[in-house]
Amino acid sequence: MDNLLEIRNLNLFIGKYQVLYNINLNLKAGIMHALAGESGCGKTMTAMSVMRLLPKSALVKSGEIIFDGENISEYKERQMRRLRGNKIALIPQDPMTALNPLYTVGNQLIESIRTHSKVTDRQALRKAREVLDMVRIPDIENKLKYYPHEFSGGMKQRIIIAMALACNAKLIIADEPTTALDVTIQKQIMDLLDEIKKELKTTVLLISHDLALVSNYADYVSVMYSGHIVEEAPAKDFFKKPLHPYSTALLNSLPSTNPALKLKTIEGAPPALQTEIAGCKFHPRCEYFKPGICDAKEPELIEKAIYHFSSCLIK
Ligand SMILES: Nc1ncnc2c1ncn2[C@@H]1O[C@H](COP(=O)(O)OP(=O)(O)OP(=O)(O)O)[C@@H](O)[C@H]1O
Ligand SMILES: [Mg+2]
Repeated sequence: MDNLLEIRNLNLFIGKYQVLYNINLNLKAGIMHALAGESGCGKTMTAMSVMRLLPKSALVKSGEIIFDGENISEYKERQMRRLRGNKIALIPQDPMTALNPLYTVGNQLIESIRTHSKVTDRQALRKAREVLDMVRIPDIENKLKYYPHEFSGGMKQRIIIAMALACNAKLIIADEPTTALDVTIQKQIMDLLDEIKKELKTTVLLISHDLALVSNYADYVSVMYSGHIVEEAPAKDFFKKPLHPYSTALLNSLPSTNPALKLKTIEGAPPALQTEIAGCKFHPRCEYFKPGICDAKEPELIEKAIYHFSSCLIK
């Protein structure tokens, strides 16, 4: 299967601190690939490197982004603008950052459709109705006249997904798309993304710290820790047999359906950016730590089973 997106050897600094270390990520076309890990591990910065929407103080030290067979790292800003909100759509955690509060949803949809394809206003309006219907917005004629603040959080996320559909996005990057929503709405939005993936063959990069959610929807999982990818596998292999001690610890800290099993939290906290840790970044928190091995050199991902990568040198 072909890769729609490839991130190659990405090293990113913000100010004087390195936040991403040699990130390699391949997204197969038409699948949902989750990027998981605790707060601050670099999930959003990885996504923003793809979108080229990084903070001003960020410096891409090295790395290439290949999207749909093209090296978009070489794109001019003008070309990137055309790509964003067109072939690549971003669904952020806070939908208001992606919607303009001053325009009606109908106008924003039409504007966006017209920017990305040569159609008349009437054709754009028809497409707007069609995509709102696809994301199951009820009472479309009225809703077209609504301003973003008139929608609930879940409905706003639907509108943003509709925008992605309107532009025929090939890749949807969903950065914690449901964190701000309650559980039932969360399920509806995730089901919608899942349906879009299956029916339209849209590729989804799902960024989430919620492994329960990841296990329900993702086809592949990459786990990040402190700026590194430490494990990557098909979701079913990952959840059946996680290999990296950090992944195991993360999974053990999930609330279980079995109340007899006690919740085990991971000791300690991820290191601050300014803390230098030699070798594996997780070693100070790891129960398998072996001096002279884990703190000797930065581990690379190793294929331990078929397409199951882990950077742990011990397990
Ligand atoms: N605008 C910024 N300026 C300075 N440092 C930043 C900025 N944005 C992110 N960082 C730093 O980069 C690192 C990676 O952050 P990132 O936002 O990618 O984490 P994350 O995995 O998305 O976390 P979360 O789950 O909390 O969203 C963190 O150490 C963070 O403090
Ligand atoms: Mg984030």
